[in-house]
Amino acid sequence: TDQVCHFEGLCLIFSSLASSFRLVCYYNSLAENREEDGKFTISDVDPNQCTHLIYAFSDINNANKLVPSSATDFQSYKSFNDLKTRNPLLKTLLAVGGLTFNTQKFSMMVSTQRNRTTFIQSVITLLRNYGFDGLNLDWRYPRRARSRPEDKQKFTLLCKELKDAFVAEGTKTHRDRLMVTASVSAEKAVIDASYEVAQIAMHLDFINVLTFDFHSSWENVTGHHSPLHQGSKDKGDKIYSNTDYAMRYWRDQGAPTQKLNLGLAAYGRAFTLSSASTDVGAPVSGPGEGGCYTDKDGFWTCLYLEGVIIQLITEQIVPYAITENQWVGFDDKDSLDRKVSYIKTNNFGGATVWSLDLDDFRGQFCKQGKNPFTAHLHTLLVPATTPTTTMITPTTTTINPTTTTITVPTSTTTITTKHSTPTGGPCIGKSNGVYSNPSDSNSFYNCANGVTYIQYCQAGLIFNKSCKCCDWLTATTVTTLTTTTPTTMTASTTTTPTTTSYTTTTTTIKAGTPAGGPCIG
Ligand SMILES: *[C@@H]1O[C@H](CO)[C@@H](O)[C@H](O)[C@H]1NC(C)=O
Ligand SMILES: *[C@@H]1O[C@H](CO)[C@@H](O)[C@H](O)[C@H]1NC(C)=O
Ligand SMILES: *[C@@H]1O[C@H](CO)[C@@H](O)[C@H](O)[C@H]1NC(C)=O
Repeated sequence: TDQVCHFEGLCLIFSSLASSFRLVCYYNSLAENREEDGKFTISDVDPNQCTHLIYAFSDINNANKLVPSSATDFQSYKSFNDLKTRNPLLKTLLAVGGLTFNTQKFSMMVSTQRNRTTFIQSVITLLRNYGFDGLNLDWRYPRRARSRPEDKQKFTLLCKELKDAFVAEGTKTHRDRLMVTASVSAEKAVIDASYEVAQIAMHLDFINVLTFDFHSSWENVTGHHSPLHQGSKDKGDKIYSNTDYAMRYWRDQGAPTQKLNLGLAAYGRAFTLSSASTDVGAPVSGPGEGGCYTDKDGFWTCLYLEGVIIQLITEQIVPYAITENQWVGFDDKDSLDRKVSYIKTNNFGGATVWSLDLDDFRGQFCKQGKNPFTAHLHTLLVPATTPTTTMITPTTTTINPTTTTITVPTSTTTITTKHSTPTGGPCIGKSNGVYSNPSDSNSFYNCANGVTYIQYCQAGLIFNKSCKCCDWLTATTVTTLTTTTPTTMTASTTTTPTTTSYTTTTTTIKAGTPAGGPCIG
């Protein structure tokens, strides 16, 4: 019979690895109000670029409650969280605060336990009603203008109580706990004044260190606003004004590296040069011209214009562009590569980008596709998350029947092969060897590859199970074989018993097993 072997198909499912780094991206809701090509809405957000999206910004009302900044925000919150239907791994956060926020609202809210509790309960209600996964505190900064001296400690209390309330709510409702995060200063003086680093880090799920805007036109010379390292022209307190120092400072003050995200700006900061000098530290007359669609001084969203000269500040590993009297420090693919490898080398948790609307989101300026800034960060930080299913096609192998040639060994013991049963008999399924025949003490089965050969001991001998050989039953007359014919048989042939001629020559009385037999070898 043909033997058909089926190898069952195997389904190998490589479950998605949790993304090992965060890519946290800010959505600036004010960019909806920009003109023409600068207008950026939630429908322009690619939900598969970032691991976390932060909606910026919400407000705090006079009753210490978290509220949207405008009436239309409720609809936007819904659209924003609907992005998760297109990426189930995406997490969304609602930010409160921001650069232009009236920080007195924070001071009043954190001042008493009752005011904080009011805020925290309103946070839970709002986040749950609109499907956010957590809160992002953007108090810039707890000990900056118009703050109260106790705000540093009160900020710690706010972080702790938010975390405790989120834990309790998650347990009670059997839902994933809401996240509590913060975006914090990268300036040493502000860090020292504003944060009890180790304590807030304990309560926060992650911390965005805003490692940009280190230099701007409030200074009278050019400088990159987001350098990776210290520059040789940095003196005095300026030695702290770089990404590397800020990240190490947060770490050394007690924040676990895994909780720290390095801040990246998708914009450049521009200066207007006041002399022919174009170096770092060249004199400037003020801010640069506005970006094409942003009004703020020095924000450029259309950097990639032809004819721009790009220089690398080698010691700080960031580039700047010069066009006519404009000097713009920004990040390109190479400097992002270096910053991301810095994140990985130092075991930081990921990166935070301000903001999606400042990237070339339609791909019309840079000729590098849509969202070149975040898309590049995505390839560097976010591993493939789509589960892969590999189906191995079942294979059918047909083993063709083979004709086996068996050489019956020459024996000194007389064995008469009466007949064989090539395709059946008691040897089916038995390993090769000699077996006794339970119904006949004089014969035995010689099994070879499942084929049964019934063989007979010479007259006067019986088959002995112990030695698997023909043995004298009693003292008897031995007939010695005179001719031996090796027989070749094939499995498909029934062999006629070989005619053996023998003569009786000697009469010997023997006891025991004759030398030799089918077991030799
Ligand atoms: C607490 O909040 C209320 C507003 O609801 C405010 O009037 C009060 O001054 C706040 N408490 C403190 C100590 O600031
Ligand atoms: C910039 O301002 C500082 C004082 O803040 C001054 O010492 C320096 O000379 C100025 N540099 C230029 C190029 O004007
Ligand atoms: C069978 O062979 C064994 C040795 O293999 C021997 O001890 C025994 O006596 C033999 N039995 C007979 C009945 O000859």
